[in-house]
Amino acid sequence: MTEQSQGPALDNLLTESRTFPPSDEFAAAANAGPDLYAAAEADREAFWAKQAERLHWDSKWDQVLDWSDAPFAKWFVGGKLNVAYNCVDRHVESGHGEQIAIHWEGEPGDTRTITYANLLAEVSKTANALTELGLQAGDRVAIYMPMIPEAIFSMLACARLGLTHSVVFGGFSAEALRSRIEDASAKLVITTDGQYRRGKPAALKPAVDEAVAQTPTIEHVLVVKRTDTEVAWTEGRDIWWSDLVDKQSDQHTPEAFDSEHPLYILYTSGTTGKPKGILHTSGGYLTQASYTHFNVFDLKPDTDVYWCTADIGWVTGHSYIVYGPLSNRVTQVVYEGTPNTPHEGRHWEIVQKYGVSIYYTAPTLIRTFMKWGKDIPAKYDLSSLRVLGSVGEPINPEAWIWYRENIGANRTPIVDTWWQTETGAIMISPLPGVTSTKPGSAQRALPGVSAKVVDDQGKEVPHGGGGYLVLDKPWPSMLRGIWGDNDRYRDTYWSRFADQGFYFAGDGAKYDNDGDIWLLGRVDDVMNVSGHRISTTEVESALVSHPTVAEAAVVGATDPTTGQGIVAFVILRGDAVDGGADAVKALRDHVAKEIGPIAKPRQVMVVPELPKTRSGKIMRRLLRDVAENRSIGDVTTLADSSVMDMISQGLNKGGSED
Ligand code: WTA
Repeated sequence: MTEQSQGPALDNLLTESRTFPPSDEFAAAANAGPDLYAAAEADREAFWAKQAERLHWDSKWDQVLDWSDAPFAKWFVGGKLNVAYNCVDRHVESGHGEQIAIHWEGEPGDTRTITYANLLAEVSKTANALTELGLQAGDRVAIYMPMIPEAIFSMLACARLGLTHSVVFGGFSAEALRSRIEDASAKLVITTDGQYRRGKPAALKPAVDEAVAQTPTIEHVLVVKRTDTEVAWTEGRDIWWSDLVDKQSDQHTPEAFDSEHPLYILYTSGTTGKPKGILHTSGGYLTQASYTHFNVFDLKPDTDVYWCTADIGWVTGHSYIVYGPLSNRVTQVVYEGTPNTPHEGRHWEIVQKYGVSIYYTAPTLIRTFMKWGKDIPAKYDLSSLRVLGSVGEPINPEAWIWYRENIGANRTPIVDTWWQTETGAIMISPLPGVTSTKPGSAQRALPGVSAKVVDDQGKEVPHGGGGYLVLDKPWPSMLRGIWGDNDRYRDTYWSRFADQGFYFAGDGAKYDNDGDIWLLGRVDDVMNVSGHRISTTEVESALVSHPTVAEAAVVGATDPTTGQGIVAFVILRGDAVDGGADAVKALRDHVAKEIGPIAKPRQVMVVPELPKTRSGKIMRRLLRDVAENRSIGDVTTLADSSVMDMISQGLNKGGSED
């Protein structure tokens, strides 16, 4: 592999060799059987057309796929649909208005029960409110909210009106929000007064006030009251949700939009400091989100209770809380808070309370549960669970087995789902009624999806070989570009294997001897911290924007709980005071302020020099060796090889961690 590889070593992954076939009973009742692979194999476009027919289309497409303008795909060309109608109205019309769509559980313990009929009324009222504010199809709306039902109403109201939403994770800073509003020229921000975090209300609106002070495109700020926190108010610009939405009619007729109408933009970290606005459109996106949710989780809409623990600020929340599940008439739990508030059994208490049958979470959380101990889940009745899922980073076999034994009672299939913000929906995953699962492997591309592991030259590696993960055929929920930057889109994803026309995912992978795929982590300068993508450059830019910092280099170091931890090496300016604990704390806080607390470095090491090649490129590989306490690798290409000695010595006295 390349020297950039930051993933766990394959040797660690291959310590578990058992496989787990589905029970006969599960396989017999599963939504997806082995025939699904055969159908996709026989005629890929006909297969996807059949999946698209699971949705309601106001007018049918003339062409399944137009790839003539590659890498800009068009799916279901000429078709028209309304995404929100597909997620809400049609379930009410088919007689399921009284079915619970959302069991909402607030962090302080308050609850709301929302049926599909309620959801339709709320989404309609919200759509009427956004129309009253003068918003029109194609306009962009920023949503900066905690996990409350109004966040979902807002997303669906945008979809209903053809507005393009840009959800910004509520843990991001004012600066991160500002740059995203600016990039998309959003006209409206929907937010709350505050949010509950670990049992306490924390203000949210001040960050919006700070952001929109510098974004002239914003006309209004719509504010949901969640915590009753006192907020500053700009008359004419700021509007309480209760003043505007509550008075609206609960009737609204949806309009059909083109299959390629933009549905949302979601910003994700790239290898430069500037986040990329990943653009998703309507028909193809909803087709694949819906198809994967139905088959990968084996959703039975009449009996299952589904829970995805992601935040709507990430793509998992978009595809597997909002669009996929609701299009399948799910009954789901939405939880506002952190997993250890008020106690470490909160998730299992919720599973027991609602009879959750499908649970989808991230490896970092599973490893945290492991740390808290198996006695905690053992106190609850988890017998309702029948499918478990994992997403966001490679799951180590040890965590996989712990999940199966302690949450899944050695019975439930586990689906390890590989995908990205860019892919829009799951791409590589077991099918729970078909696949004999292997702890640590996402295994193979879903029916209709094509993935390969290739070498430097783009040639597929043999079984047992490792290389780069590529997607060699277009798929319905693929990104349609980077908002406002077609060149960056081509360059980022399509230039590495331009001759072959492959999409390069940025991940390293390997085939085992059976041809199953094992993900090995990113091969670019993107870190994966608790399943969150953060670019090294973004953190470096934040650090050097601090007046005391002359230079900074950031690496992701292996971390037993979070997958990777952010380790920063900084050179202070000549006139700055020495790098004591206060200086280090100031820098960590500064990064949290610039990007958000999720990007706060685990460690900041003040060093006299950074290791550079003769051409001036920072050698991150060596810094990772230091950060992971390995003996330092080959330093022959360093301009000044004594630098590493200086760094190591500097660390021994100046390294700081808290
Ligand atoms: C990583 C999250 C291994 C991968 C849906 C990818 C995974 C990045 C898995 C995308 C998995 C996601 N096994 N690695 N099952 N799922 N990843 O855009 O490095 O937040 O490129 O999308 O997470 O992160 P993103």
